[in-house]
Amino acid sequence: MKALLCKTIGNAQSLLLQDIEEPIIGDNQVLISVRACGVNFPDNLIIQGKYQFKPIIPFAPGGEVSGVIIRLGKHVTNFFIGTRVIALCCWGGFAEQLAVDANRVFHIPDKMDWFTAAGTLYNYGTSFYALKQKAQIQSGETILILGAAGGVGLAAVELAKQKGAIVIACASTEEKLAVCKSKGADFTINYLSSDLKEKINIITNNKGVDIVYDPVGGELAEIAIRCIAWNGRYLVVGFASGIIPKLSFNLALLKGCSIFGIFWGSFAEKEPLENYKNINELLTMLLSGKIKQHRHKIYPLENAAEALQDLQDQKVIGKAIIKIGNWEESLVELNSNRPTRDSFKEETSISPIHFYDKSELLKNIGKDLGKTEWLTINQDRIEQFAEATLDFQWVHIDPEKAKTDLPNGKTIAHGYLTMSLVSNFLYQIISIGKVNSFINYGINKARFISPVQVGSEIRMWANINNVEEMPNSSIKLFLNCTIEIKGQKKPAFVAEIISMIF
Ligand SMILES: NC(=O)c1ccc[n+]([C@@H]2O[C@H](COP(=O)([O-])OP(=O)(O)OC[C@H]3O[C@@H](n4cnc5c(N)ncnc54)[C@H](OP(=O)(O)O)[C@@H]3O)[C@@H](O)[C@H]2O)c1
Repeated sequence: MKALLCKTIGNAQSLLLQDIEEPIIGDNQVLISVRACGVNFPDNLIIQGKYQFKPIIPFAPGGEVSGVIIRLGKHVTNFFIGTRVIALCCWGGFAEQLAVDANRVFHIPDKMDWFTAAGTLYNYGTSFYALKQKAQIQSGETILILGAAGGVGLAAVELAKQKGAIVIACASTEEKLAVCKSKGADFTINYLSSDLKEKINIITNNKGVDIVYDPVGGELAEIAIRCIAWNGRYLVVGFASGIIPKLSFNLALLKGCSIFGIFWGSFAEKEPLENYKNINELLTMLLSGKIKQHRHKIYPLENAAEALQDLQDQKVIGKAIIKIGNWEESLVELNSNRPTRDSFKEETSISPIHFYDKSELLKNIGKDLGKTEWLTINQDRIEQFAEATLDFQWVHIDPEKAKTDLPNGKTIAHGYLTMSLVSNFLYQIISIGKVNSFINYGINKARFISPVQVGSEIRMWANINNVEEMPNSSIKLFLNCTIEIKGQKKPAFVAEIISMIF
């Protein structure tokens, strides 16, 4: 396989594209056939030996990939071969294949493209954590974002706007500021050509900003903290300028402000549950189009060094992405003979509510899992069901007779067909991590209320009715499920579905 290797500590030009052996995976790892890799600030630091992690040479940089799982370690139970995933790997992503610990891997929603997937976690994950968990940003608050056209900065602009904040975006060129404006920034300041403090005083009427988001550091930091309002929050995100500022504590005292260190990688490791929830929320926002990564450029693997150089030269706006491999050719491995859950799934833009593991369900009794997408019940589906169950009653399979003999002239789906779609629908709205096996255990109070005529659209909504801990550490999950028919008040099917999760 091809990889862009760092064989000696140095700059981007010293990287070498080489053919190397396929990686060997550990028992808790998966092997990913990489499709795309996001380019991030630490990639330059890591090849220069300036990052907190120092991999053994030779290694490929690239900390965030999208791709397809092509091999599973012995102990990996929560993924399939063929699953589309994103992975946070720290390094190794500028390569056709990557071995990575399964706990650093996340599913990609069906409709998300490889490039978006490869550029999502790092930037949005950091900024979401900073704004949500740390700053607890509120609608109407004012936020000053430094380096606002960079990877994390632009993500912060979009996410702060989603929360209803007033965004002041700062960058070094008019082109960068125009992109910030297009992402919703209310005010922009060129901090190279204008006086930052004076501009902020004008914009905030001398009140100052409620939050400073700082991925740049250097001499901007002191100016920014002096622009903070009473009870403000300063988010220390990074030091892209290369200078770690040394601020006097009296500034924090005078402003009554709080200083928050942001280390998303540690947050993800120490609070995986909260991180999973954040990622799910982000994926939902991305799929609904509420937020959309600004893509600077896509570089082929052969030109990945140019991408790193552009990032270092402050030319990149938003996200640079590396495209890896010939996708059409490598799709072959997706067609392995082994069927997977993903191969049966309906295409959907709905992102399931993710539970970190089965025990998290215990804290969510009563939780509404939302609604699935509408699914059309066509004659083909009805006939396939008849063939599978050997139940060939004419009301299901004879459209001609139905025209004359049934009240609406249409065939009717078997009640059990409607019921059989519960699992399909559940995959759309709930996902549970670290599951060894999941067994359909029983059904309570099942009722078929309205017939489903051919051509009808149905969908399901569900909530968690109860969760019981079993002696063998398995969980019994009780879901109230209702399958409704578009345009009709009375549902097609209601039941309490019981599952055992091991
Ligand atoms: N704490 C965390 O968990 C976390 C997570 C991700 C990233 N980070 C850190 O956040 C910082 C920014 O990351 P990023 O991915 O947004 O990087 P990026 O895409 O390169 O953006 C950095 C921005 O900083 C500004 N900048 C000012 N001086 C610079 C210099 N000497 N070299 C490069 N850029 C300079 C540039 O904007 P202008 O040209 O407009 O000034 C640039 O757009 C990095 O220090 C990174 O390590 C921290």
